[in-house]
Amino acid sequence: MKLSIERLILPATPRPARWHGPTFSVENVRFSYGSTPVLKGITIEGIAPGKITATIGPNAAGKTTFFKCIAGLLKPEGMIRLDGTDIRDYSREEITQRVSYLPQESPVNAVLTVFEAVLLARKHTLSWRVSDEDLRSVTQVLEDLDIEDLSIRFLNELSGGQKQMVSIAQSLVRDPDVLLMDEPTSSLDLQRQLEVLDLIAHVTSERGIVTLISLHDLNLAARYAAQFVVMDHGAVYASGDADAVLTPQMLRDVYGVNATVVTNPDSILQITPIGSIRSKKSRVAAVP
Ligand SMILES: Nc1ncnc2c1ncn2[C@@H]1O[C@H](COP(=O)(O)OP(=O)(O)O)[C@@H](O)[C@H]1O
Ligand SMILES: [Mg+2]
Repeated sequence: MKLSIERLILPATPRPARWHGPTFSVENVRFSYGSTPVLKGITIEGIAPGKITATIGPNAAGKTTFFKCIAGLLKPEGMIRLDGTDIRDYSREEITQRVSYLPQESPVNAVLTVFEAVLLARKHTLSWRVSDEDLRSVTQVLEDLDIEDLSIRFLNELSGGQKQMVSIAQSLVRDPDVLLMDEPTSSLDLQRQLEVLDLIAHVTSERGIVTLISLHDLNLAARYAAQFVVMDHGAVYASGDADAVLTPQMLRDVYGVNATVVTNPDSILQITPIGSIRSKKSRVAAVP
């Protein structure tokens, strides 16, 4: 059965009547692994809630490290403010409750079924009592993602793509204010990629949350994200909407790729790579 947004009724925590979503900003964030600086002063002024923000950039740009800082797993210098308060001033429990982080590589726990794993993600550390609402939420998110048939399968029996779907279920079932997804569609087939991003876009706007997704497929990002943060060598090269950010110049500077960027009939930018600047250089260099 195909995933359908219309039947999405994933229950969310009731928000105040005049809820405008969380405010979220990043100011001069720096982080080093040992003596190697990896984040070199990341500043992002106010990420609008309700829309997907794509964090893009080549391998080793620092995207995963940045997400880990936001999730409170690494302790950077600088400020990461959620509703005006620095992330470090929240308790571990508050961060776990408010910020949901889907890691690039999900740990696999062989002794859990899919249903148990998603339930555990919802309960995190708050309370061990399982309510009817918890069970309903787990059932619903598995249905929304069209993986209810996996409920009683063990995690270690699943394909890479199925595991990734379970990880997505785990991050959505927690009903966070900030959703961080690190390459959530990297193992999914084309149909699943579209369905999952449709669902995430829907959840983001319905709940008015801040959603940051790191994506390698720039055309997928152009289709689903309203805002972009381009990272390069641990710094922000550019941020803004697709027109401002997805330019041939950025693709040359950051990705080392010559590409055309055109607006397709659906008003979505379409990037077509023509060739790698680096490989062209090395080919030239290789000529005796
Ligand atoms: N645990 C770690 N220890 C030391 N260096 C790391 C660690 N994790 C990542 N790095 C380095 O930090 C840089 C940024 O990595 P990462 O944040 O994973 O980038 P991205 O997600 O953009 O590919 C890379 O040079 C990587 O080798
Ligand atoms: Mg990464």
